[in-house]
Amino acid sequence: MRVCVIGAGYVGLVTAAVLADLGNDVVTVEANRETLLKLELNSIPFYEAGLEDMVRRTRKAGLLRFTVDIESGVCDTDIVMITVGTPASEDGRCDLRALEAVAASLAALPPGEYFAVIKSTVPAGTADWLEDYLNQAAEGSSWEVVSNPEFLRQGSAIRDAVEADRIIIGAASEKAARTLQELYKPLNRTVLVTDRRSAEMIKYASNSFLAAKISFINEIAVICEKTGADVTKVAEGMALDRRIGGAFLGAGIGFGGSCLPKDLACLIHTAKQHDLRVPLLESVKEINDRQVKILPERLAHIYGEVSGKTVCVWGLAYKPGTDDLRDAPSIRIIDDLIKRNCVVKAFDPMLVARNKIAAMFAKIETYADPYEAAKDAAAILLVTEWGLLREVDWVKLRDIVNVPLILDGRNTFAPHEVEKAGFTYIGIGRGCSAY
Ligand code: UGA
Repeated sequence: MRVCVIGAGYVGLVTAAVLADLGNDVVTVEANRETLLKLELNSIPFYEAGLEDMVRRTRKAGLLRFTVDIESGVCDTDIVMITVGTPASEDGRCDLRALEAVAASLAALPPGEYFAVIKSTVPAGTADWLEDYLNQAAEGSSWEVVSNPEFLRQGSAIRDAVEADRIIIGAASEKAARTLQELYKPLNRTVLVTDRRSAEMIKYASNSFLAAKISFINEIAVICEKTGADVTKVAEGMALDRRIGGAFLGAGIGFGGSCLPKDLACLIHTAKQHDLRVPLLESVKEINDRQVKILPERLAHIYGEVSGKTVCVWGLAYKPGTDDLRDAPSIRIIDDLIKRNCVVKAFDPMLVARNKIAAMFAKIETYADPYEAAKDAAAILLVTEWGLLREVDWVKLRDIVNVPLILDGRNTFAPHEVEKAGFTYIGIGRGCSAY
């Protein structure tokens, strides 16, 4: 099929590359000329394992092109996929300005029969709105709009797109649903066809449920600490019940990133618009806001006074496998430490993440090496569980730090391993009632 993907962000670029890899003829429209220039050189504006290779390969095969111009991108295509960003506004409302700008450009296309798919995360009713708008504003054209939310995760985006648990198609006609089913057929995944509003809501409900699982286990972690239980064992035991499952039961400093926090906020905002009370969703957010404060507070509790102390932060990205700092817990933790007058030295393997944090905090020192970042530290705070940190030589580290103290914000390490080397280990919810 001929597909035009509008927006070369995370979802857009991965979708475009995966569809091209399946043999479709894909053109991606990117309005930002600087990003476009990079893409023309096969340089991906963010880190995602395997994506650069896939883009290079599909471009070489003539299956993937980039353009700045919507009209030339859309002309002669079967499907227009909209993947522009939909960030949260201050009050949690979903900011649809990028989508509205695309809608205005689509309305100005030459008359024709068009088929659009919204992949961006948008509130229920947006696809209905877009179809009505285009059919009214685009004289002589007929538009059909389908909702097809994306569920890929950063860090495993290609695998998630190719091996998706489910493909949701929210369509108002059988013909529209069939067109998308045809497109995804080679992936051989489970497909659910629904109405458009339910498809849009499935995305918000899914991300908010994942957030709720995390906040739930973080609530249990607080109780574990006071009762001497270990939340990692509790989660392991819970996960053995197939009705519960083990995913997203990792207790720690909470969820960040560009999706879970904003989608939760948007769902709460939507409920408020309808005068609904949603105490469960509000608690999910409240618990997450509490978790991110734990490490600096704990440090202050241990030392009494942390002013002037050197603190090492391991990990900046909101999770491993990405250089993304959007809503990353590291930002709030570092801000807190700097306000407490600590000297902050941060490690992250991603240069982009290090540069971004250095641009935010003038006083921070950043390192590509976890040992260098730990030099003379009064404590190490594990914020992002990068795989390479699991290989750390604790005995070597013991001679580098000033005080052998690790606050493990992701429950990444086995306490006895760390303690064997002479470190004091404090995790989240791991039976340490003293803190
Ligand atoms: C999330 C969803 O998982 C995807 O399905 C969805 O497509 C995507 O948002 C989106 O809406 O675009 P993502 O934000 O890339 O994906 O990352 P996740 O793997 O969901 O992690 C989010 C946050 O939760 C991270 O900060 C992570 O550290 C935290 N987390 C995750 C925990 O604190 N505990 C866990 O057990 C799991």
